[in-house]
Amino acid sequence: MNTPAASVADYGARAIGPIILLGAPGAGKGTQAKQIVDRYGIPQISTGDLLRENVKLGTELGKKAKAIMDRGELVSDELVCDMVAERLSRPDCARGYILDGFPRTCAQAEWLDGYLSARGSKLPLRVIKIAVDYDRLLKRLTGRRTCPVCGTIYNIHFNPPKVANTCDQDGAALSLRKDDNETSISERLKAYEKQTLPLTDYYRARHALTEINGDAAPEKVSADVLAALEQRPDKA
Ligand code: AP5
Ligand code: MG
Repeated sequence: MNTPAASVADYGARAIGPIILLGAPGAGKGTQAKQIVDRYGIPQISTGDLLRENVKLGTELGKKAKAIMDRGELVSDELVCDMVAERLSRPDCARGYILDGFPRTCAQAEWLDGYLSARGSKLPLRVIKIAVDYDRLLKRLTGRRTCPVCGTIYNIHFNPPKVANTCDQDGAALSLRKDDNETSISERLKAYEKQTLPLTDYYRARHALTEINGDAAPEKVSADVLAALEQRPDKA
């Protein structure tokens, strides 16, 4: 078993390797990714955020992805894998990285396996699945508000900002995601069940998966996620 690090400075110096956050829309992938970033100092790579950035900038990728994302469907494996390959090639990924929302299909998982083995990656892949009761997801998603400046995630029901619609960190007006409406949410959940849920078995079979109860308070979920990352996956 890995020896737990003694201090935050130790955590920040260690090679961690790739961490995948798996979970339904609204499960808390983005919320928990930020806790892992704070502890280990490795980057959060959210394919949803990267795609939204491309849409905002009006890139060719953004133009192809926009309507698909608004409907709540998945962007093609090829486009997403190319985007991830470019992001993983940057130097800040050397000690490890958090994949938030990727892979999302078996084809993407197989692509990632090939990518890692082609680079002789020695550190084990860790997959944390955040499991949440489906009935809670609608309220989490329709109540979500995000700071467009610093990315802090709020929820008007469960984690409101101190001043309505205003980021506690920098005072920016909070925004509502375009796909957080009931029609898109329903499609996102269908896509998750059909295309992403099979990844649970894919990674369980590789002894890489740890399942965390995501129904608890965010602080409790964070404690469980961080504890799991300090253990071998099959012991967590
Ligand atoms: P993406 O941006 O990844 O969206 P998603 O998977 O639908 O997940 P969300 O970001 O909605 O939820 P989350 O799990 O991050 O939850 P959060 O922490 O914000 O993808 C968007 C779209 O991009 C896709 O539909 C697809 O079109 C495209 N795309 C992205 N990746 C792709 C890929 N790999 N392949 C193809 N297409 C791709 O939390 C949600 C809310 O709950 C917040 O308000 C938060 O404050 C609250 N909350 C969190 N934890 C708790 C808790 N424990 N208790 C109470 N409230 C909580
Ligand atoms: Mg997210």
